[in-house]
Amino acid sequence: MNDAENTPTVPSTASQPLEDRVNNRSQRPSSAAFKAFMASNWAPSAQELPARDAVAEHAATRRRVMSDQFKGERLVVPAGPLKVRSNDSDYRFRPHSGFAHLTGLGLDHEPDAVLVFEPVEEGKGDDGGSHHATLFFRPLAGRDTEQFYADSRSGEFWIGARPTLVEFKARLGLATAHFDELEMAITKNVGAPEIGGISIRLVRKVDENIDALVDTARYNTAKDPENLDMGVLDALDEKLSEALSELRLLKDAWEIEQMKIAVAATVEGFTEVVKSLPRALTHQRGERVVEGAFFARAREEGNELGYDTIAAAGNNATVLHWNRNTGKINAGELLLLDAGVEADSLYTADVTRTLPANGTFTEIQRKVYDAVLDAADAGFAAARPGVKFREIHTAATTVLAERLAEWGLLPVSVEEAISPEGQQHRRWMPHGTSHHLGLDVHDCAQAKRELYLDGVLADGMVFTIEPGLYFKKEDLGIPQEYRGIGIRIEDDILMTADGPVNLSAALPRKADDVESWMAGIYQEADGHIS
Ligand code: GLY
Ligand code: MN
Ligand code: MN
Repeated sequence: MNDAENTPTVPSTASQPLEDRVNNRSQRPSSAAFKAFMASNWAPSAQELPARDAVAEHAATRRRVMSDQFKGERLVVPAGPLKVRSNDSDYRFRPHSGFAHLTGLGLDHEPDAVLVFEPVEEGKGDDGGSHHATLFFRPLAGRDTEQFYADSRSGEFWIGARPTLVEFKARLGLATAHFDELEMAITKNVGAPEIGGISIRLVRKVDENIDALVDTARYNTAKDPENLDMGVLDALDEKLSEALSELRLLKDAWEIEQMKIAVAATVEGFTEVVKSLPRALTHQRGERVVEGAFFARAREEGNELGYDTIAAAGNNATVLHWNRNTGKINAGELLLLDAGVEADSLYTADVTRTLPANGTFTEIQRKVYDAVLDAADAGFAAARPGVKFREIHTAATTVLAERLAEWGLLPVSVEEAISPEGQQHRRWMPHGTSHHLGLDVHDCAQAKRELYLDGVLADGMVFTIEPGLYFKKEDLGIPQEYRGIGIRIEDDILMTADGPVNLSAALPRKADDVESWMAGIYQEADGHIS
């Protein structure tokens, strides 16, 4: 698509900067008559202010926690920029999760936006905290502006109406300001605290323009700019990213609701996949057929996928991150489907089921499946408030080591395998058993190890339990009958004071239940499996 086509071409010059050359394809009218005509005769924009979002009070609490941790410092949390795809449209925008968490903004809000915490006198800030937070963004431009029709990235003519400053203020309960005021807000009075300056902390590597702005401000206000210690500044910034990650270790009531919404849509997606299997079995790229069936649900019910779907049949299921999904699905094989819907709020599920492609497990498939299920159940049983996160993995993998020993696959004793010096059983399950889940599929990834792997499970944590066994067809260390079988069972767990709740329990886990669930779907659809 080109912007308007019919005006004379501006002569190009060899010295034209590359970033301007994207405009060489189109001829935008620039006559005064055109501008005046375009600015006239549009209906007024909506006047009524929206209601406060349910998330607003939770986001305010989260900001208050951050304020208490970083008194006296300016905090800069960017959403991130748009990214061009194929020199044309932009990739669908997804804000940085820390920004989404602190603002409560989901969907594709709001490219280039930045949340700034301005330090104020202790107790005089938002909600009695020590900062006043402002969301800077590019608000909807009026229909009488050139931006309305001429800016393909933010103009209403191109991408639809966007929020105004007062709309976001009403929805989020957060001060808002125009993007044009951002530079001043970030750079003013920056400097060493001992001479009355304000120290900044930035979530880096989200928006390179903001990184550059902060770096320049720091450089220009440093006492000895030539010897600015970037290591010290990086450490300041990293502490902010760490704090944002750790802030998400415990989910609030609103977040737990969002996780349930994401999981419910994911359950529907898995049902669609089962429905698509008969056709998938006839298709050259059956894995893509089931991937597409899930994706349709993700877009219909949620914002997107939380991560690229792994649709892996047969030996492909032994490739841990098989998301090329180009393979055929053959009757008699297993299909490992690892998929999650990201809700409009950007919270995602992360669920895996391993399904017999033709509806019935073979004996050996069932034997391996049951071992993985027992490992998952052992992980589930170990998960209790006050227990270390790492204990889930120990419990699950110990069961796997025991089964592998029973089957004669383990070259050493179970004791030797589970000791730190051994770990031979991990040849067939080299990944972790659990990770935190939330706005990011691997949530809280910048949290300190003592709060994550060595941390203690607590009411409000959401995480996966996802053991597996992966016997590659190239594995000469195991009998032929095991080769080409890859199985993972992954559930999303909410820890409560009373113990774990399996949020994804609506999807059958036991082999018998999987078979009868699939059969029930086909009966209902009056379908059959070839
Ligand atoms: N889907 C990615 C994971 O299970 O961790
Ligand atoms: Mn996972
Ligand atoms: Mn997964």
